[in-house]
Amino acid sequence: MCGIVGYMGDQQAYPILINGLHRLEYRGYDSAGVALLNGHGLHVHKCQGKVSDLEKHVEGRDLGGTVGMGHTRWATHGPPNDINAHPHVSSSGDIALIHNGIIENYAAIKEELAHRGHLFRSDTDTEVLVQLIDDIRRSEGVDLPEAVRLALNSVVGAYAIVVLDQRDPNLMVAARKSSPLVIGIGEHGDHFIASDATPIVEHTKNVVYLEDGEIAVIERGKGLKIRNIKNQDKTPFIQELEMHLEALEKGGYDHFMLKEIHEQPRSIRDSMRGRLNLVKGEVVLGGIKDHEEKFVKAKRILIVGCGTSWHAGLVGEYLLEDLARISVEVEYASEFRYRDPIVDEDDIVIAISQSGETADTLAAIELAKGRGATIIGICNVVGSSIARVTHAGSYTHAGPEIGVASTKAFTAQVTVLTLMALMIGQKRGTITGSRFFRLLNELDAVPEKVEKVLRNEAQIRYIADIYKDATNALYLGRGFSFPVALEGALKLKEISYVHAEGYPAAEMKHGPIALIDEEMPVFVIATKGGSYEKVVSNIQEVKARKGKVIAICTEGDTVVRDLADHVIEIPDAPDPLVPLLSVIPLQLISYHIAVMRGCNVDQPRNLAKSVTVE
Ligand code: AGP
Ligand code: GLU
Repeated sequence: MCGIVGYMGDQQAYPILINGLHRLEYRGYDSAGVALLNGHGLHVHKCQGKVSDLEKHVEGRDLGGTVGMGHTRWATHGPPNDINAHPHVSSSGDIALIHNGIIENYAAIKEELAHRGHLFRSDTDTEVLVQLIDDIRRSEGVDLPEAVRLALNSVVGAYAIVVLDQRDPNLMVAARKSSPLVIGIGEHGDHFIASDATPIVEHTKNVVYLEDGEIAVIERGKGLKIRNIKNQDKTPFIQELEMHLEALEKGGYDHFMLKEIHEQPRSIRDSMRGRLNLVKGEVVLGGIKDHEEKFVKAKRILIVGCGTSWHAGLVGEYLLEDLARISVEVEYASEFRYRDPIVDEDDIVIAISQSGETADTLAAIELAKGRGATIIGICNVVGSSIARVTHAGSYTHAGPEIGVASTKAFTAQVTVLTLMALMIGQKRGTITGSRFFRLLNELDAVPEKVEKVLRNEAQIRYIADIYKDATNALYLGRGFSFPVALEGALKLKEISYVHAEGYPAAEMKHGPIALIDEEMPVFVIATKGGSYEKVVSNIQEVKARKGKVIAICTEGDTVVRDLADHVIEIPDAPDPLVPLLSVIPLQLISYHIAVMRGCNVDQPRNLAKSVTVE
């Protein structure tokens, strides 16, 4: 979950590094630091806090040097403080290292190194690795790349690292296993390293995605060489980045999250582009074409994911069971991977991940793959680890999602799942032609309907202002709207720090109704269709106990309007498509409450955008 940047070239490194760290800060912001190599050795500057705190920390210092690396941390081993901040330096003072991941066997290595006289300053697992590399370099008398390779051979865990040695100022070494690392190749021979492409895209579009077990050696004037952990040379595969710089700016919005909420008409359209053909009446998902037969014959589909992606998977369950009549089980990846699940070659596993780097989801994939299942990915980041380990998949094409709270990725994931369910249903003959065409046309109309919902923002902000001081909240929904209730609750929790729970509306009677009082806002998705009448009854049950009801209802619904304290109307749509509309007001309510509570919306406390550690 840390953010890593590196640079070697003819430009001053510090400005490139600090700008890169700002772009990666969404990956973690407990502390930040840089290491610079200039003609006078290694200079490390680091401190607890955000990248902006680091900029204050280094004011007035010598930041010269054309080689360097930077790190913004999300702590796993050792509290956020100055000492535990990266880069970590070997006790000799010669080698500096930055790391994203977890060295699982760090304690044993640390004990061994302590016996050999190494002194440790920090509580981190990372410091053990830099000490080990230095120890090997000295004891084996090998060069830096070889010392790194030998050290990594004795490491268990996940890493993306960059290593500098003041004895080799024209050398930069990087390596990865399970944590992401991208290398940018500039046209004037400069090289960039980063956890993802966002710090690189403004400098070059030529990138190499490092693979697991690979070590990159960048030498001034000699370019990039790659070898693997077994010391076999690998030819770098240079790709062209599709990302564009403007996608990384806020575009006039106060926060990335608000920008991304408002991007959803476009991102939903983009997730359908080239895949939905109204004239021919078909859905084409090129990425999974080779596995269509497998889907048609499938007896069961497993869906794995975490957080919001898990909620999208839950919508996927309702979609696939309704439209394709295939049994679906949705699993938290972190639970699936540890419970020795029943999975075999007859199963299809759909892995959903915005970042494509979530450690638990990656591990769940490896487990299922190892047992013969067919793995289909739904990712947003092209070239991400999950995208590369699955058998096939469909990108969501939502564009870079910078805000830690996932919004446009969720609706893009649900859109792709809707397309999948429609395609499989049509091929399995489990959906009538008329229903198929109606849903296809209705899906095509969703972006415009989302635009219409977004035009309610002023009213939504007004409602947010009324409930901004609530300490608890309930979210209720039935059928396709139950996963949306969960997602709405997660949004509020993670950016405003208000405790919120999502429940199937009928479940309220089995306990949570005891929470209802005049202080409790209850958000209810009460759109026409499905079990609408039952949800109306649930609203009455809340009102009977003086609860405050904020209802998401179908436009023109006077019944709910008369019952609820506040209503947010959304355009009518068939049940399977309602999640794409009903989630929008819940995203905006959470956003505005968080802003009114003075929370850091794009970088909520304790969170990071991509959880690449377990
Ligand atoms: C969602 O708002 C959260 N940021 C978090 O739950 C996220 O969905 C989860 O960590 C999964 O991330 P992924 O989609 O990148 O795998
Ligand atoms: N394990 C390292 C630390 O705690 C890196 C953490 C991470 O990658 O999030 O400093």
